[in-house]
Amino acid sequence: MNYNAWFAAQDDPSERHSLTEVVYYSKSGGLLEVQHDMDALRQRSAAEWKQLFESRWMRTTWPYGSGVWGKKEWLCPNIDDKNIVSMFEGGSNLFWAERLGQQIGVDDLWIKMCGNSHTGSFKDLGMTVLVSVVKQMISDGKPIRAVACASTGDTSAALAAYGAAAGIPTIVFLPKGKVSIAQLVQPVAHGALVLALDTDFDGCMRIVREVTASADSGIYLANSLNSLRIEGQKTVGIEIVQQFDWDVPDWIIIPGGNLGNTSALGKGVQMMYDLGLINRLPRIVCAQAERANPLYRAYKNGWRYEPISAQSTAASAIQIGDPISINRAISTLTRFNGIVEQASEQELADAAALADRTGAYACPHTGVALAALSKLVKRGEIKKSDRVVVISTAHGLKFSRFKVDYHEGKLEGAVGTYANPPVELPADVDAVRRVIEARMAVA
Ligand SMILES: Cc1ncc(COP(=O)(O)O)c(C=O)c1O
Repeated sequence: MNYNAWFAAQDDPSERHSLTEVVYYSKSGGLLEVQHDMDALRQRSAAEWKQLFESRWMRTTWPYGSGVWGKKEWLCPNIDDKNIVSMFEGGSNLFWAERLGQQIGVDDLWIKMCGNSHTGSFKDLGMTVLVSVVKQMISDGKPIRAVACASTGDTSAALAAYGAAAGIPTIVFLPKGKVSIAQLVQPVAHGALVLALDTDFDGCMRIVREVTASADSGIYLANSLNSLRIEGQKTVGIEIVQQFDWDVPDWIIIPGGNLGNTSALGKGVQMMYDLGLINRLPRIVCAQAERANPLYRAYKNGWRYEPISAQSTAASAIQIGDPISINRAISTLTRFNGIVEQASEQELADAAALADRTGAYACPHTGVALAALSKLVKRGEIKKSDRVVVISTAHGLKFSRFKVDYHEGKLEGAVGTYANPPVELPADVDAVRRVIEARMAVA
């Protein structure tokens, strides 16, 4: 069967481009979407697709054991397998958060641990597709010298790692002083050209768009306005449903910044629906930090959107005031009967700490999503018996400073409600026993 996909203009689907063309915008300046030949995909029944995906899931046959490339026909069907740059991304644990659910008041709570991945965040899902297409373009003779992105930290880590694995030079634009040490050191270690600019993410985004604007620059743009990223990221929703043996959860909660991920989640689930693998849609909640909440404000304002200047938040990867995928996200949330919720610094920090107490290790963005969950449960929007999945977007280990500051009572804008600092003692057995007994008495 010949499967096919192409870039289509959002505002004029008759405008089409090959996925290996260097093009980011439609003729009228809008974003491009990857569209698939759905008639060709329908030649396989829903049951056959499920069977195919199951047969590949986490197996060793290159490259189909990757959670992303196991769904190759749905993403980027025409790429040559020899050009695929994969690090076995996807297939992350769907963690049954039983104890956390009991504390929050939901019986069936799950956390999709997307941070358990090669570079420690969900960005690997999209970057494997984009870098693979770049490798295909280079092998087709396209004059690409480097791949570039603006980033709040995780995108640059993923781009640098996949570029390094493929031998493709990478350039990353970071807002100086606004990403975690772990996120900064990843592209440095992978040999990317790291440009720390004296601006915020939105400022970096403006500059990288200019630098990559002309195809003559030979510098290819890897931000999620490039829909190749969305194709990989959309597998997250498909994986969640697959991990429930093709059962659809009632709710999926996701933290949002530039909003590519929210749109990607909707796109993957919608594709399953359109191809008959599922017969209902989950509701989607996008969670934003109160200090960087342009989507939340739009939601409260009849979807009327105004860019803002994002304030400093511990959820630094979503500190974005003018999200590129705002329109995509609004249309996703409209289709999925969506809700937007926000979390203060106190709420996000406490939500992450509470999750840690039950065995998760939540990054601040996951904290934002968990705080949104608590609020929706308290308001009665999410019911005790609902099946809820929270998407954890990065590994908590990338945000050690956030955790240390919380437990030492030094986090800006929050007190350490669940702080558990180390107890410093002399090397004295009696003193040790006293502290143990005191702790056991309150446990
Ligand atoms: C850890 C983390 N969570 C959430 C997001 C938000 O994703 P998006 O920008 O696609 O909304 C990002 C994006 O950088 C991220 O790195």
